[in-house]
Amino acid sequence: MSKPIYVLSGPNLNMLGKREPEIYGSQTLDDIHKSLSEKATKQKVELSCHQSNHEGQLVDLIQEAGNKASGLIINAGALTHTSIALADAIRAIDIPAIEVHMSNVYQREEFRHHSYLSPVVIGLICGFGSQSYELALDVLLREEQR
Ligand code: DQA
Repeated sequence: MSKPIYVLSGPNLNMLGKREPEIYGSQTLDDIHKSLSEKATKQKVELSCHQSNHEGQLVDLIQEAGNKASGLIINAGALTHTSIALADAIRAIDIPAIEVHMSNVYQREEFRHHSYLSPVVIGLICGFGSQSYELALDVLLREEQR
């Protein structure tokens, strides 16, 4: 078995399903992790899925991914727009990282238009609900096949 792909979600994403369903839909984060894992398993790739409301813990998980994973999918939630620490952590690891957002952040408030993470990831997917995670996984699974 190859190295796992890490899927990290930041603050308040544990509230998916209840949180602003008109923006984020009705699926829970567990539902999303389950369908991502099914997709990955079909390609014999393991996923390691985590959620934390704490910036420092997300830094630890990014560093862990750098040591153990073949790729990283990260939805940092609101920390996207504020966290130099998360950007530095991603910059310090040597695996492809993809930034995802469920909502189209560019259709929303101005403060969501800036991301500290975009300059340090290979690409950004936003606006497709839970499919944003799936599309990011497709990209990394394709990289695995090369
Ligand atoms: C989000 C967008 C962020 O602006 C917001 O703070 C979130 C979720 C998204 O997935 O659309 O928590 O990252």
